[in-house]
Amino acid sequence: MTLPPKVLANGRMALTTAVCVLALVLSAVPVAGQAQAGQAEREGRAMRIGIIGAGAMGAPLGLKWAEAGHQVVFSSRNPEELMELVRQGAPRISVGYADAAAHFGDVILLAVPPVAIPQLGEDFGELMRGKIVIDISNPRVDRDGEITNEWMAMGTGEAMAQYLPGTRFVKAFNTVNPRNFANPIRDGVRVGVPIASDDAEASAITAVLVRDIGLEPVIVGPLARAKEFDRGSPIWETGASAQDIRETLNIR
Ligand SMILES: NC(=O)c1ccc[n+]([C@@H]2O[C@H](COP(=O)([O-])OP(=O)(O)OC[C@H]3O[C@@H](n4cnc5c(N)ncnc54)[C@H](OP(=O)(O)O)[C@@H]3O)[C@@H](O)[C@H]2O)c1
Repeated sequence: MTLPPKVLANGRMALTTAVCVLALVLSAVPVAGQAQAGQAEREGRAMRIGIIGAGAMGAPLGLKWAEAGHQVVFSSRNPEELMELVRQGAPRISVGYADAAAHFGDVILLAVPPVAIPQLGEDFGELMRGKIVIDISNPRVDRDGEITNEWMAMGTGEAMAQYLPGTRFVKAFNTVNPRNFANPIRDGVRVGVPIASDDAEASAITAVLVRDIGLEPVIVGPLARAKEFDRGSPIWETGASAQDIRETLNIR
C-alpha cells in the first residue's frame, strides 16, 4: 500500500523528533573535557548551527564548533548512525534529518557533495530562507557530473547560491581540508580561510566561526570573488596563510 505523502511526511517528522530526543538524552551524559563552557558561550555569542552532511568535512567542523560552545545539529539521511558524534560532542550536539538541521540553525553549513545541493534547495530552501548558509563545495566531474564544468565557469559561489534564493549565502572552507582542522598551524603560521559573500554581516559571522576552529579568516569580498579561490586556484588546498591569501588575491 502506498501511503499518501502527508502520512509519509508525518512519519518522517516523528522519526526526526525521536532521533533528536534520543540525541538530547545521550547529550546529557557528560563527557570528559567537554563539560566546561566553550569560549563562544563564555562570551555570550554561542550560535545555533545546522550541518547538512556529517562526513569528512562536516563532522570535524561541527565537533570543533561544539567544543567552542555553539549548539550543533548534524543531519544525515541515516541520523541514527551519528550517535558517536553525539557522544563526542556532548552536551552540545544532536542529530536529525536535513529538515531538522535547516530548521534549527541560524547558520547552516552545507557539507554535502555539490550535486546534492539543488535538491536540498528544492526540499528545504524555505527553511533556510533569511539564514546564513555556508557552502564549502568543490565540484568534481567524477563525482558530480558534467554540470561541474558549468558551475566552475560561473564560479561555485554564485553557482550554488542560485539553488538557495533568499538566503545569506557565503562561500568558505572549500580551500582547506580536515587535516587543517587538526593542525591549524603550517610552517609556524596559521592557515587562512578565504570568505566571499554579498552579505557583509554574514561574512563577519563566518569569520568568527573560522577563528573558533583555530584558522585565520580573510574576507575577500562579494560572492562573485569566490571564483578566485575555487578548486585549482593558486591558494586552493595549499595551506596558505592569511597574508599569502591577501597578497595572492590582492586584498588590502
Ligand atoms: N574532504 C575534503 O578534503 C574537502 C575539502 C574542502 C571541501 N570539501 C567539500 O565538502 C563537501 C563534503 O565533502 P566531504 O569530503 O565531507 O564528503 P563526505 O565525507 O562524502 O560527506 C558528505 C556527506 O554528505 C551526505 N550526502 C551525500 N549525498 C547526499 C545527498 N544526495 N543528499 C544529502 N546528503 C548527502 C552524506 O551523508 P549521509 O550519507 O549520512 O546522508 C555524507 O556524509 C563537498 O562538497 C566537498 O567538495 C571537501
